[in-house]
Amino acid sequence: MARKKIGLIGAGNIGGELASLAATKQLGDVVLFDIPAKEKFAQGKALDLEQASALSGSDAKITGTSSWEDLAGVDVLIITAGIPRKPGQSRDDLVGSNLPIIQNVADNAKKHCPDAFVIVISNPLDAMVYEYKRRVGAPREKVVGMAGVLDSARFSLFLAREVGASIKDVRATVLGGHGDDMVPVLGYTTINGIPVQQLIKEDRLNAIIDRTRKGGGEIVGLMGTSAYYAPASSAIAMAEAYLYDQKRILPAAAYLEGEYGYKDLYLGVPVVIGAGGVEKILEIELSDVEKTMLKTSADSVQKVVDIVKAKS
Ligand code: APR
Repeated sequence: MARKKIGLIGAGNIGGELASLAATKQLGDVVLFDIPAKEKFAQGKALDLEQASALSGSDAKITGTSSWEDLAGVDVLIITAGIPRKPGQSRDDLVGSNLPIIQNVADNAKKHCPDAFVIVISNPLDAMVYEYKRRVGAPREKVVGMAGVLDSARFSLFLAREVGASIKDVRATVLGGHGDDMVPVLGYTTINGIPVQQLIKEDRLNAIIDRTRKGGGEIVGLMGTSAYYAPASSAIAMAEAYLYDQKRILPAAAYLEGEYGYKDLYLGVPVVIGAGGVEKILEIELSDVEKTMLKTSADSVQKVVDIVKAKS
């Protein structure tokens, strides 16, 4: 059986880590794409990573390019093209710079790799994945946004550290948009089945929720640019679910057609990812408070989508 092919659009910080993980896990051959001005950089990064594969024992090929022709036939396309945040910026501040980039990527992907399962990471995430799907005209099963897996990983880590429990025993889900009003759903958050409220006091839990919501900004403040290890790991978990037909239930930005009362909007909800892509959107019961928080988050996403629509 031929190896699968993974296309990575953007050879920057997240792109490099995605390539490293995809090669180490032998998900397939990797094509690392960037703009012509950064083609040599992409090629150098690919070569460095291939040489690392010589030590890890991976046979996956990694190539750097700025030719869309090289993306023909990719099974999974992960998009990180765009400008990352700087300290003091919100994700929504990136809409002006990243909208033309996602439009350019969408036009080329439509032409060169229309059958790929697409995972968008570029920010502002929910609006960028919306514009990608709209521009390509792809079915909603094939286009998903990576945010909920990352936000849930951050939430899980803070909970595990607070309780002094293994991260393996934490089950936590964050829904809604990938912004500061994202919705950690406490009703479904457990430590090995034990409702988290039984183990963590309310004030500490609120502090953890607040830290989760600002989790991306905390890292931007420390590093001067946005996170890349955890975002890449999150997208790779989604790619693996697709490539290995794992049918994993993961929180992800999915295109809603009435689910949770929202239409024509990408929002973080629990989905099943398998060989069919986003095979199902699960509508779980939410408390009234959680529904109100989801509405606030959806309204924030809609505002950015309206900007995108006005500029398109
Ligand atoms: N096509 C392909 N690549 C592009 C394009 C384009 N049209 N425009 C820009 N890029 C490339 C840049 O040249 C750069 O190499 O995207 C890459 C982005 O890499 P970084 O600047 O290192 O940014 P990164 O940290 O990887 O984040 C990328 O993901 O999480 C989001 O907010 C983050 O929107 C940002 C994106």
